[in-house]
Amino acid sequence: MSIHTTSPASPPTTDRWLKGTTGLRYGGDYNPEQWPRETWLEDIALMKQAGINLVSIAIFAWGILEPREGEYDFSQLDDIFGLLHEAGIDIDLATPTAAPPAWFWKKYPDSRPVTRDGITLGNGSRGMVSPSSPDYRRAAAAITEQLARRYANHPALVLWHVHNEYGAPISDSYDDHSVAAFRMWLQKRYATLDTLNEKWGTTFWGQVYGEWDEIDAPRQSASVTNQAQRLDFHRFTSDALLECYINERDVIRRFTPDIPVTTNFMATNCLSPDYWKWAREVDIVANDHYLVAERADNHVLLAMDADLSRSLAGGAPWILMEHSTGAVNWQPRNIAKRAGEMARNSLSHLARGADAILFFQFRASRFGVEKFHSAMLPHAGAETRVWREVVALGETLGSLEAVRGSRVQARVALLWDTESFWAQDFEWRPSAELGHRERLEAFYTALWNRNVSVDFAHPTADLTGYALVVAPSLYLVGPAASENLTGYVRDGGHLVVSYFSGIVDENDTVYAGAAPGALREVLGLTIPEFLPLHENETVTLSDSRTGTAWTDDIEVSTAEVLARYVDGPAAGGPALTRNVYGAGSAWYISTKLTGTDLDSLLLDVLNTAGIEAARSIDGVETIIRSTDTDEFLFLINHSDADQSWPASGTELLTNTAVDGTVLVPAGLTRVVHSTL
Ligand code: GAL
Repeated sequence: MSIHTTSPASPPTTDRWLKGTTGLRYGGDYNPEQWPRETWLEDIALMKQAGINLVSIAIFAWGILEPREGEYDFSQLDDIFGLLHEAGIDIDLATPTAAPPAWFWKKYPDSRPVTRDGITLGNGSRGMVSPSSPDYRRAAAAITEQLARRYANHPALVLWHVHNEYGAPISDSYDDHSVAAFRMWLQKRYATLDTLNEKWGTTFWGQVYGEWDEIDAPRQSASVTNQAQRLDFHRFTSDALLECYINERDVIRRFTPDIPVTTNFMATNCLSPDYWKWAREVDIVANDHYLVAERADNHVLLAMDADLSRSLAGGAPWILMEHSTGAVNWQPRNIAKRAGEMARNSLSHLARGADAILFFQFRASRFGVEKFHSAMLPHAGAETRVWREVVALGETLGSLEAVRGSRVQARVALLWDTESFWAQDFEWRPSAELGHRERLEAFYTALWNRNVSVDFAHPTADLTGYALVVAPSLYLVGPAASENLTGYVRDGGHLVVSYFSGIVDENDTVYAGAAPGALREVLGLTIPEFLPLHENETVTLSDSRTGTAWTDDIEVSTAEVLARYVDGPAAGGPALTRNVYGAGSAWYISTKLTGTDLDSLLLDVLNTAGIEAARSIDGVETIIRSTDTDEFLFLINHSDADQSWPASGTELLTNTAVDGTVLVPAGLTRVVHSTL
């Protein structure tokens, strides 16, 4: 088992896909173990009606498949494999290791996870076990081997789904196995205690370690815990979970080397796994996404999640493993999707590179904690709006077969670094208003509003293909990232940096000298003092823009001042700067800009970088997927009014010729195919 100890510079770009149909994949999680056999027959007939060609099974079936340790019962699973195959529906077979059976908990109570504040968690649920428990890893490998042996040559098997959403609902465990494994992980990373003491800054509060076994997991303590230690515990936890995945994947590969193996990520919504590292270990990236029902801009957040999924896949096609047809059951108010919303969501994922559109789940559960969750087939059955929309979506996907394998080209990259999220979210930062995610969403939304396609990239990735790179509050920037970003601009790239970026290195240690240590040179300025604002305080800029939350005292060295503060604690000083550096340039935005203030600034930046940006026309989201020979223009109308858009070619959903203008009816999507 070998995993990298730092995030890889760039994700893989392999274009591996599922054997079988040349078209798109459609389906969802299927839990037949909750139903009598006659219902399975009805389900399969309905799946055929909807054009479903892939289902994920056995995700939580460990207790059924292995009722007692080492005793297996595959009778139901054999039957369901046979029935699905006869119907021509392919199988994404899960290893059921996200929900260990009751016997496991009784026999191995020390595998139970312990929370940061010392609570040992019980069973009767799913998702949590100490990732460092040797008994868990052994038991997980054993059931995986049984499944792999039994179904290796089954013709319906096209994909492996290891576990479920590693890292959710909680990830880090403070049990004894984890503490022991953490110490070993640290020994590998630092080799000597002297190095560890230095990197963790343990002279602060006299935390110096003299023996490895003095080191504990960073449990809840009286005051704030050493943040370098916490950062390493996050890294360790991501690696421990990844080892669990690799443990099962490698068993599977012994039996089915040609069947792709994946696990479902939650790209923007679960920050426990460092997905840049994980993406290297899956054959195809798979992602789950659920709307934040109450946010009016949830379709923009969906687009962001889909763009990150594609970026993790290195641009290759990915699988939308789960989303919902309607309401979920775990938000404060589970607002149902209205007519057309499910199709728009699905097609936005597709437009952003997903070649498989799957749901949680096929048939709604009558019992269990998810009985109020929507499904493809609701409790009310097939005579429903939701089912009719599910069938219609199957037809739509059928008409989009030609899109399969085409790619999205983006000239803008937003930097996404999970380690920076971890570090920035710790306590005692200079202002409660500092939010990595808030700035990411703000910049992403501004670009989305202008229909600019965006990739995400790790700060150490090869950025040469991008005309513009945006670093929204990227607090942690290690030396490699610093060099990479500086070199990118020197070689002709354009970089936009927002406040509180480049402050600390990979151990959460402030760079020597004035901020922003990692980006001083490329930005051509220094910041002797941070000047955060009061709650609701606003500052005016000399270009009439308004800032909130944050300002800096800036001294420019080589940067040009684009706007100054008119008032506030930094009055008279620079607010917005641009540094021409080598063949490129770097902007610095020292306050929180929103709405048109951010939009107009980004427009200037886009123009300088030579990127075409059009204001989206009343809510029409446009994305292009292309191959060397073909182009697919997706137009998703999120508004209540019909819209026209310039296009020529064939509209694939209505199969009509388009000559110059295509009508996109309110709430619907159109996909215009043209040849290059
Ligand atoms: C996902 C999970 C599914 C189901 C779904 C409900 O996070 O993987 O098993 O619980 O949420 O929204």
